[in-house]
Amino acid sequence: MNVVEIIRKKRSGEELSADELSYFIDGYTEGSIPDYQVSAFLMAVFFKGMSKKELGVWTHRMLHSGEVLDLSDIPGHKVDKHSTGGIGDKVSLILAPLAVAAGLKVPMISGRGLGHTGGTLDKLESIPGFNVNLSIEAYRKQLLKLGCTLIGQTGQIAPADKKLYALRDVTGTVECIPLIASSIMSKKLAEGIDSLVLDVKVGSGAFMKTFEDAELLARTMIDIGNEMGTPTRALMTDMNQPLGQAIGNAIEVKESIDTLRGEGPKDVEDISVALVHEMLDLTGLADENTDAMLRAKLRDGSALKIFRDIVEAQGGDVATIDDPSLLPQPQHRTFYKAQSDGFIRFPNVANLGFAALELGAGRRTKEDEIDPAVGLYCFVEHGQKVKKGDTLFEILYNDVATLTPCQERIAASIHIQQSAPETLQLIYKKLE
Ligand code: URA
Repeated sequence: MNVVEIIRKKRSGEELSADELSYFIDGYTEGSIPDYQVSAFLMAVFFKGMSKKELGVWTHRMLHSGEVLDLSDIPGHKVDKHSTGGIGDKVSLILAPLAVAAGLKVPMISGRGLGHTGGTLDKLESIPGFNVNLSIEAYRKQLLKLGCTLIGQTGQIAPADKKLYALRDVTGTVECIPLIASSIMSKKLAEGIDSLVLDVKVGSGAFMKTFEDAELLARTMIDIGNEMGTPTRALMTDMNQPLGQAIGNAIEVKESIDTLRGEGPKDVEDISVALVHEMLDLTGLADENTDAMLRAKLRDGSALKIFRDIVEAQGGDVATIDDPSLLPQPQHRTFYKAQSDGFIRFPNVANLGFAALELGAGRRTKEDEIDPAVGLYCFVEHGQKVKKGDTLFEILYNDVATLTPCQERIAASIHIQQSAPETLQLIYKKLE
């Protein structure tokens, strides 16, 4: 087969055959097709999309690029959730131990930061020593013992997604429904789960900016899950403002610990509870007392204890969980203040992700190292009334040269207007 021909065919909008798609995925996974050809192909998919048939083959091949785990010998309901990505979205760190506290097993395979969005793996790695690269044997053992593992794709699990994800991040090919759907579903279906809940974000900080696109993405993923035998449902949730206050890595771990203590931001707790509720409901375990039970598990310390056990089992320094001030700290802090009186709106939340990326909390190239200590605290919410000089953000940074570009991104993310904006909902819709 001729790779250039396959790229040309996709570029002109023709449907590719199963053989061509499989050849492409296999060649990239084993290294015989180079990054530059795959980049061109991804850009062609970005503009021309994929048919339902193409997407089915592509996802199936990505899923089978590595091992598809069989966890049927591990007792219990194995359920996971995955978010399409947002700003300040640290929900996995809270949801996984909370779901375990509620009786589920959560074999979670997560991703790194992508584009302007943060990644669960990068956040976890800000806990000194935390190892996200467990072998499959260790993954199974820990799941059996603690009910949860928090790992990344390995060379064994969905390696095609691991490579494509990193390449999309740096080639402007993230915001594309077939590429997002195949990325998420290939790694999730490889986990060996019984069912899956998706958190599909919509708004100016999400990859899907409109309700229609977000719903199409959700439906596409639900169809893939159901066709491949894994019951899947989705909540469509808001990303027109950051989730919680912390945007970064170590600071998001700290906010997750606060939430696991029942002392976190209300939106982070509410969305974590709603998603675990859906995970329980998918397995027939939810009733009218579920939400109160979940909130109690945050307040009585049982979910936090499970998180601590997971951190310990994966080599992380548990002293940082007991005392989050031991997490990596920045050398400098400064405040960003309101320039006028009025009501807050975030016309472009993605810019807050880019602001954190400017500081070093994300990657510009595949090789970039993350600075775990840097990030932003956002002290205001959509619709909040502020006065000139009020503190809107705290910026945590190490490299002084990153401060101005970060401040410019913040300025482009926020608007102070004279009239109160329309209120936002946290959760828009459930799709089954
Ligand atoms: N999350 C993923 O795992 N993949 C994407 O493409 C986007 C969000």
